[in-house]
Amino acid sequence: MHHLQLKFAALLASAAAVSCQNYAQLARKLSSTAHIYQPGSDAFNAAVLRWSNFSTPVANVVVVPGTENDVVETVKFANVHSLPFLATNGVHGSISTLGKMTHGIEIHMSQLSSIAVAQNGLTATIGGGVLSKNLTDALWAVGKQTVTGTCECVGYMGPGLGGGHGWLQGRYGLISDQYVSMNVVLANGSLITVDQRSELFWAMKGAGHNFGIVTSITSKIYDIQHPNYAMETLIFSGDKVEAVYALANQQWLTDGASMPVDLINWSYWYFDPTTDAEKPVIAFYIIQEGVQTVDAAHTNPFLQLGPITTQAVSGTYRDLAGWTGISLSSTPCQKTGNANPRFPIYLKSYNSTAQREVYDIFCTATTAPSSPFSNALFMFEGYSQQGVKAIGQDATAFAYRADNLLVAPLLTYTPNGTLVDAIASKLGNTMRNILFLGSGESSLNTYVNYAYGDETPVAWYGSDSWRQDRLCALKEDFDPRGQFSFYAPIV
Ligand SMILES: Cc1cc2nc3c(=O)[nH]c(=O)nc-3n(C[C@H](O)[C@H](O)[C@H](O)COP(=O)(O)OP(=O)(O)OC[C@H]3O[C@@H](n4cnc5c(N)ncnc54)[C@H](O)[C@@H]3O)c2cc1C
Ligand SMILES: *[C@@H]1O[C@H](CO)[C@@H](O)[C@H](O)[C@H]1NC(C)=O
Ligand SMILES: *[C@@H]1O[C@H](CO)[C@@H](O)[C@H](O)[C@H]1NC(C)=O
Ligand SMILES: *[C@@H]1O[C@H](CO)[C@@H](O)[C@H](O)[C@H]1NC(C)=O
Ligand SMILES: *[C@@H]1O[C@H](CO)[C@@H](O)[C@H](O)[C@H]1NC(C)=O
Ligand SMILES: *[C@@H]1O[C@H](CO)[C@@H](O)[C@H](O)[C@H]1NC(C)=O
Ligand SMILES: *[C@@H]1O[C@H](CO)[C@@H](O)[C@H](O)[C@H]1NC(C)=O
Repeated sequence: MHHLQLKFAALLASAAAVSCQNYAQLARKLSSTAHIYQPGSDAFNAAVLRWSNFSTPVANVVVVPGTENDVVETVKFANVHSLPFLATNGVHGSISTLGKMTHGIEIHMSQLSSIAVAQNGLTATIGGGVLSKNLTDALWAVGKQTVTGTCECVGYMGPGLGGGHGWLQGRYGLISDQYVSMNVVLANGSLITVDQRSELFWAMKGAGHNFGIVTSITSKIYDIQHPNYAMETLIFSGDKVEAVYALANQQWLTDGASMPVDLINWSYWYFDPTTDAEKPVIAFYIIQEGVQTVDAAHTNPFLQLGPITTQAVSGTYRDLAGWTGISLSSTPCQKTGNANPRFPIYLKSYNSTAQREVYDIFCTATTAPSSPFSNALFMFEGYSQQGVKAIGQDATAFAYRADNLLVAPLLTYTPNGTLVDAIASKLGNTMRNILFLGSGESSLNTYVNYAYGDETPVAWYGSDSWRQDRLCALKEDFDPRGQFSFYAPIV
């Protein structure tokens, strides 16, 4: 063998030997329910598989803590050995900054899955590894609910750390607005309780990924008051873009009326050749709380625009994810091996001219022969906002309470080298920029939890300089070495 090869082989062998010994040391410090998965094992492969196969974090080992203290020990161990680490839960995080993790420990939170409702019925304490649907179901069983993300397979904690949108935000505010206190493992391995007395509390509600690993959160919960929901789906042909979005804006502007708290509208654009062989359709969803059928006053103006098809469904809160294609069995909950970048922008209202320009580009991208983006989905989320706007703009690190609509193309494609990655990035940014120019806003406002990764901290956390200053100062205090900087780093 070549001298260099020999040396390399010896190096590899010694690295492996040292690492095995080290992890045995770690194992002795962990509870009996903790797991350590080594590369090559099925358990390791399953744990590192992600929703989006683009710019993914790379780990050499997966630790599955069985207790809060296991998280502490794992972080301390990582620090002693100068290893990077990253908490994961629902693995739906897709921001490209995650790809900056090239080795180290994935701390998979799934076993911290406890949900305990307080005796007074006003709060629940929720483990850092709980998934959205598990929480909804557990609370529902005792006649309670709280704000969670809409998608069943996404983590409960992940969305909230960036603010957190959900069906109930019009009533109660964002997911993070419900937080009462949380247990957090800091970069140096200290476990602290963070609540309104701590400066960190403000930052955890919108920029939380930057500061620690949350082992549990105590959240406000509510009695279920409106279990029933109805939804009307109206599928429009793409030539109705201007009319549909002019109406989506206008309905609540007349008489200065505000959007009712019991109403949500979402729409998707996607290419479905069985409905329209030439261009993507507009699927417009009108969702109403507490009814069996959506009020005709809400649906009639849209019906007058002449949809291709309409469909009405009724059921309960727990059916919403299935109706909107984000339940456990829906495509977005499967790990397909596809890259799933989004290019989000918050808007105050729709600009029909910009909607048309973007639609035409999206149309070409989804219908061109052999385009990699034929399965792309453009998402327009219009939640009710009362609960979000009732809370002060400066009250939390989430910066975008003044906006009304969360809009993003999801450019699903099969990975195939850096060329298609670059095309996706250009396409997504081009469409987003058209919406930005049409908005008349001076800063790009993006949802950190949908972010592509090339946005700036200003776009993720707000353009007010006091926000950046405050976050930077906290980062310096709590994470001076930037160990929590793989997900949308402040600095
Ligand atoms: C199909 C789909 C639907 C979505 N729906 C919604 C929605 O309705 N509302 C909404 O607001 N967002 C939604 N999102 C976006 C969602 O907020 C982010 O994708 C989020 O990062 C997912 O969290 P996760 O636990 O599933 O992912 P992960 O990749 O496991 O986690 C994402 C990041 O969160 C951090 N993290 C996770 N758990 C912890 C913890 N316990 N302590 C500290 N840090 C932690 C880590 O930095 C990690 O990199 C959706 C995304 C998808 C793909
Ligand atoms: C969470 O829900 C999933 C799917 O419904 C289920 O398989 C799993 O056992 C639940 N986990 C816990 C801890 O209850
Ligand atoms: C992710 O994409 C790469 C190509 O970039 C491919 O080799 C790999 O098989 C994909 N992963 C999955 C789980 O499909
Ligand atoms: C859709 O929701 C957004 C956000 O709340 C709102 O501004 C808009 O008026 C709504 N449109 C309809 C038709 O409900
Ligand atoms: C991958 O890219 C090559 C050219 O770089 C192309 O020939 C091939 O068809 C692509 N494959 C897929 C699955 O898109
Ligand atoms: C809508 O967008 C177009 C195209 O960017 C722009 O010219 C126009 O001023 C925008 N309209 C409003 C009301 O902002
Ligand atoms: C860990 O960091 C926190 C926040 O900076 C600090 O208050 C605490 O003293 C540190 N703990 C140790 C053991 O250094």
